[in-house]
Amino acid sequence: MIKLNVNGRARDVDVEPEMPLLWVLRDELKLAGTKYACGVAQCGACTVLVDGQPVRSCVTPAASVANRKVVTIEGLSPIALAACSRTSPACAAEVANATDPSSGATARVTLAP
Ligand code: FES
Repeated sequence: MIKLNVNGRARDVDVEPEMPLLWVLRDELKLAGTKYACGVAQCGACTVLVDGQPVRSCVTPAASVANRKVVTIEGLSPIALAACSRTSPACAAEVANATDPSSGATARVTLAP
């Protein structure tokens, strides 16, 4: 059992310690906003924040972030989401689809033209 703190919530996951954080987030915690693309730490699609620092979750073992603060796109503040959306169309598309299954909340950001 690995104890995680994801988007401010304590979560216990029963996975192998070396399982990539990406798959823990997507498959175990149903946080699908974090995306898989290259799988080799090159593209950044899987980036999450761990203790405030960007980390490529596709190559990060789940056990290495035990008891640290993980923030996914579902956990970003509206201000952070707006900043992200202004700088990246890909990020804006992700924001539109980011839903936290535990609360049912969907991130929505409306930007002025
Ligand atoms: S999926 Fe490309 S860096 Fe992780």
